[in-house]
Amino acid sequence: METLDVKKENGIGWIYLNRPDKLNAINLKMINEIDSILKDFETDNEIRVVIFTGKGKAFCAGADISQFKELNTMTAWNFARKGRELMDYIERFMKPTIAMINGYALGGGLELAMACDFRIASEDSMLGLPEINLGIYPGFGGTQRLVRLVGKPKAMEIMMTGDRIRADEGERIGLINKVVTKESLEEETLKFAAKLLEKSPLILSILKNIILYGNDSPIVDGLNMESLGWGYVFSTEDEKEGVDAFLNKRKPNFKGK
Ligand code: HXC
Repeated sequence: METLDVKKENGIGWIYLNRPDKLNAINLKMINEIDSILKDFETDNEIRVVIFTGKGKAFCAGADISQFKELNTMTAWNFARKGRELMDYIERFMKPTIAMINGYALGGGLELAMACDFRIASEDSMLGLPEINLGIYPGFGGTQRLVRLVGKPKAMEIMMTGDRIRADEGERIGLINKVVTKESLEEETLKFAAKLLEKSPLILSILKNIILYGNDSPIVDGLNMESLGWGYVFSTEDEKEGVDAFLNKRKPNFKGK
């Protein structure tokens, strides 16, 4: 891959954004390559968690600004749409996703992190949606996702001032799940991933689906999905295994069936 480095290890699919000399800025090639590797991870039963991170000193400094000079209304719209569809795909991905933020997560980089289920950041990371300083605004879903994550007042402040915030401030407002030292970032992320790897991948997928679609629906529909899904879960082997393991005081061995 031209813009990514990819690794499969111990149930985890790693996606390293790999344009370190450009702080991993996202171009169309990167969008297409992430889409293609995710399609592979989706059907690979060995992969149960996906982790995004960046090579070098940044997670990702956003969309590649050097391309913007060539864009017109139609091509800009198309670029935004393609990037946004990728973020939608990541958000709805059937397996849990983690953004391991190792430095700047700005613009499209933060939008990518926001599309993931969890964000774990090193304490030196800086977060922001600075697009307004370029005379544009976030276009990979950020205008909608940030509001849902942190509420309107903080989201408007971050997007309309373009100011960067530190990782600990991100954690305080609910944007970041966990801030850790730079040295322990990978270890802490793996510890977090290990908790997900112990669970039933099938039930995790159903739960993620209900949380996400329910969150985008009137509460009555979300609650109904919850009850319906709750019944469905009782037709799975993993439910039998989980309950049996508890009752027999042993660790469950989930199969994803
Ligand atoms: C292209 C970028 C880039 C970007 C950094 N670089 N960010 N190239 N697109 N988004 C390049 C720089 O030009 C430079 O290349 C090299 O990476 C190192 O960056 P420096 O600026 O020299 O590093 P530093 O001084 O440490 O500053 C780091 C930084 C700054 C604060 C992160 O690079 C910065 O402000 N970047 C832009 C952040 C931004 O505005 N992002 C939003 C983009 S718009 P050379 O060749 O000079 O070494 C966006 C829209 C998404 O994301 C939605 C689209 C639809």
